[in-house]
This record gives sequence, C-alpha cells and structure tokens, in this order.
Amino acid sequence: MPYQEEQNYETYQETADWLLSRTKYRPKVAIICGSGLGMLVEALANQEIFKYTDVPNFPQSTVQGHTGQLVFGELKGKACVCMQGRFHMFEGYPLVKVTFPVRVFHLLGVEVLIVTNAAGSIADGYNTGDIMIIKDHINLPGLAGQHPLRGPNDERFGPRFPCMSDVYDRALGKLALGISRELDFSNYTHEGVYCMVGGPSFETIAEARLLHKLGVDAVGMSTVPEVTVARHCGLQVFGLSLITNKVTMEYDSNEVVDHEAVLSIGKKRARLLQSLVTELVARMELNPTANVQVKK
Ligand code: HPA
Repeated sequence: MPYQEEQNYETYQETADWLLSRTKYRPKVAIICGSGLGMLVEALANQEIFKYTDVPNFPQSTVQGHTGQLVFGELKGKACVCMQGRFHMFEGYPLVKVTFPVRVFHLLGVEVLIVTNAAGSIADGYNTGDIMIIKDHINLPGLAGQHPLRGPNDERFGPRFPCMSDVYDRALGKLALGISRELDFSNYTHEGVYCMVGGPSFETIAEARLLHKLGVDAVGMSTVPEVTVARHCGLQVFGLSLITNKVTMEYDSNEVVDHEAVLSIGKKRARLLQSLVTELVARMELNPTANVQVKK
C-alpha cells in the first residue's frame, strides 16, 4: 500500500447519516474520553447510546478501561456526543481509523471537540492527580511520518497543508482556567505542552530526559491524531490531560508506572473533571441553532 488505508468521503457520510437517522440530537460539542475517564459520560442527561460494534464503519476499542460506545445526550441543555473509549495507534489501527470518528462528528455538525487523556508528567512541579490544560502539542509520530493526514487530501474536509500554530482554542483554555479557580482547584491546574508517543511501552529514563529537554510537560499515547484531524476540518479544540503518574527521570528512583495506577487516578478525579467539562460546555458560546431534531 503506498499510503495508509484510505477512507473515502462517502464512508464518513454513511456513518454520519446512520447516526443522524437514529438520534434526535444535533450535537455541536463532541467529547473524547481518555483512559479511565469514561465516567465523564455520567453527566449527560437523556442519553441515547450506540455501541461501536453497531455503528457502520466504526473501529472497535480493545483497551481495558475503554467501554466502546457513542453516547448522545445533554450537558446543561446543550446537545453533546461523547466517545466512551477511543482508538490508539498502539492497538494497531492506522491513524485514519483512529481519527475516523472526528470527521463523522464534523459531518454531524459538531463545532467544538473536547479531548481528555491520561498522561505522565515530565514537567518539574507537576504531581499525580493534577490537571493540565493543553496549550500546545508535539506530534512525535507525525514529525516522523506517522501522520493522520498522510496520503491524498480531500479538500471537502480541509486544506492540504493545514496550519497548526493555533490548535488549542485560547478562549476556551482561559475559560477553563477560570472555572478551575472557581472550583478551588487552581493550585493543581497547569497549562502545558502535551507530547504524543507511539507506546505501548512507557518511556525509558533516557527517553523521559529527552522529552524534558524538548519542552514537554506531559506525555501520552493519544489525542494528537484526533486533534490534528479536527483542526484540519475546522473544529475548535479544547484538551485536558489528567496526570496519572510522574515519569521517572532518575536511575535510582523506585517509581514505576502501570496501567492500573493510571485507571485508579482517573476514578479519584472523576467528579472534578466532570464539573470542569460540564461548566465549560455550559459557558461556551455556540451557534444558536436547534439542539434536537424536531420530528414532523
Ligand atoms: N507515558 C505515556 N503515556 C502515558 C503515561 C506515561 O507515563 N501515563 C499515562 N499515559
């Protein structure tokens, strides 16, 4: 194959049409829940649920802690669609599959993408349980050629060479910082740079030190492909990392990281993340068109 497996426009459209004919919601906000953060969905009222296995063309989720369903519902009266379980490059999916749902969201009429993830901290001064509002990212696989937009470009989604100097919406970031202050959590909230690595192994000490030198604040195995494709098709993006572990940078350290620890921190911070995302959605300005389809 000369480039990654291709998806044509019609495939995305077929999935969007399938969903639109089955849900009354017309969401303008999509939320992708990271590892152990699927409980964000609990905040959605009046849910309509579609298992990934039932949605045409949807990839399937294989990671423990990821449920694998699309949940439509309302957050403070605003229609949202939530991915409970995301697709990772390390599972073996081509990036065109990892990012498939994002283009479907665009075709559903979504305007804002909220991404959450579990990440390890590289920055000095971050602690387990802290929240990082993503202000920028380093697409490490992308810089090396593993890029979700590799291959022929479909102008119906966006330009061949999309700008990436304004990925994370500054106004939404500011709004989230203000909410974190109100929730009395500002001591544990940072703004920082996220770096995507391929995984599935965690970093060696030498790799961690390299990331530190590169200006990375938190490292994870997701988010960047989805966000890149979202910006390509014009979505506004807000991203949040939950720091589930400190990445070891010293050879004499006893700290080790495992997936269970990552999931358990997610559970501990569930309520706070829920409140932050709910308030953010409540306060964000969206185009004033109908949230739900009016049945004739
Ligand atoms: N490294 C990479 N990905 C991660 C980590 C980490 O330390 N923690 C959670 N996801």
